Amino acid sequence: MGKLSRIGIALDSDLLDRFDRSIEKSGYTNRSEAFRDLIRDRLVRERTAAAGATVVGTVTLIYNHHASGIAEKLTEVQHAHHDLVVSTSHAHLDHDSCLEVLIVHGQAARVERFADLLIGLKGVQHGRLVMTVPSLDAGQRQKRRHHHVHSMR
Ligand code: NI
Repeated sequence: MGKLSRIGIALDSDLLDRFDRSIEKSGYTNRSEAFRDLIRDRLVRERTAAAGATVVGTVTLIYNHHASGIAEKLTEVQHAHHDLVVSTSHAHLDHDSCLEVLIVHGQAARVERFADLLIGLKGVQHGRLVMTVPSLDAGQRQKRRHHHVHSMR
C-alpha cells in the first residue's frame, strides 16, 4: 500500500444516507473502508475483464448425480482443462444433490470458457464463476516481471 491520501467527495445527502444504511447492514463500521472496497471491486472487475489477464477464482456447481453421465462428463471436461484446475472439493448435499467447488487459476478468457462448459452441462442445475486477482498490488508486480522477461528475449 502507498501513502495515504485524503479526499473529499461531494454527493447528494439522500444518496449518502442510503449508502450509510446499506453499508451498516453489511457490517461496515467505517465509511472509508466501504469506499475502499467499492474501489477495489471496480479495479478487480476491470482487471479480470481483460481477456489475457491471469485470474484466480472458483466455479461452484450444483448438480443431480443421477443425471445421465454427469459425473463422467464433469470429470472429462476438467481433465481436458487440468492446467486451469488447482483443486476441487465435493459435498454430497442430500440423496440427489451434489455441490462441487473448483479453485481455478489461469487466463481469464480460458477460465470463463471452461466455467461456461461446466455450467452448461446437462444435469448441472446451477453454477457460478467468481474471478478475482490474488492482490491488486501483486498483479502489477507480476505484469512488470512479465514485461521484463519479454524484453530479454
Ligand atoms: Ni455427491
